[in-house]
Amino acid sequence: MFKVLTRQLHKRRVLTMGLAATSSILTPPVERDPCDHGRDVTRWALLSDTHIHAKPNYRFLGFNTYGNLQRVADQIGANMPEGLVITGDLARSRGSADAYENFKSLLAPIAKERPIHLCVGNHDRREDFLLAFTGTTDAATIKDRHIATAMAGPIRMIVLDTLLYVNTFPGMLGNRQRTWLKTFLAACDETPTILFCHHAPRADLLDTRRLFEIISPVRKVKALVFGHSHRYEFSQRDGIHLINLPATGYNFTNAQPVGWVEAHLTAQGGQFKLHAVGGNTSQHGRTHCLRWRA
Ligand SMILES: [Fe+2]
Repeated sequence: MFKVLTRQLHKRRVLTMGLAATSSILTPPVERDPCDHGRDVTRWALLSDTHIHAKPNYRFLGFNTYGNLQRVADQIGANMPEGLVITGDLARSRGSADAYENFKSLLAPIAKERPIHLCVGNHDRREDFLLAFTGTTDAATIKDRHIATAMAGPIRMIVLDTLLYVNTFPGMLGNRQRTWLKTFLAACDETPTILFCHHAPRADLLDTRRLFEIISPVRKVKALVFGHSHRYEFSQRDGIHLINLPATGYNFTNAQPVGWVEAHLTAQGGQFKLHAVGGNTSQHGRTHCLRWRA
């Protein structure tokens, strides 16, 4: 069949096809630079697992978590971003009013000038957390969950609450929060949206499958940012970028950095730069560029 068709081709068509083939060899397909995200950029500091203790001199696994956050806050304050998101485990190890007061005092100079969005982690106590940061133990959006939404330039941020039991590893959004998320996503406009929570999907977020049943078909959801594992990693699920932030407080293995991530976010993608202040600092300054799914 192939030979018959070849014989029937007009010479001019053969020549045209030949030129096209040559052209494609000479001019390879242009791949867009994943870091070229346009000019409408919002710059944010992303932190996780600060694990501040009631005693500032507290050390765990060789790290003074208070000192780490102090150093990170100084770095952020020297070149102020548009805001911060901290994905939970603010305290060590069961949350307490004193721990949250230490946390607040370290970030007070930044909080005066910029928004700081906070997730609840499994080492936070929700009542103390809410009292410290909202002034009331009554969660605003749905009962017993701390949820926040914010617009950040070209991006929408949604902060979710995955705390299930204090000081145990598993977490869960739960049926009411999943229903809220599904309803909210259906009602809001098509602004590219990034979700933030504490627990790592797959590993310890018990309703990961149900979460992705909601967000995978919603194309405006571009990324999920979380902490919990104290590992700095990038992966994807259904085209949604999974961004696992390093811990600011301490690592569980010497292979992992301790620090924070500077994010430049646009409607097309994100650029994520590691600022390592301890642990494995070999990747300090390294940038990951991600392009959002269409
Ligand atoms: Fe943690």
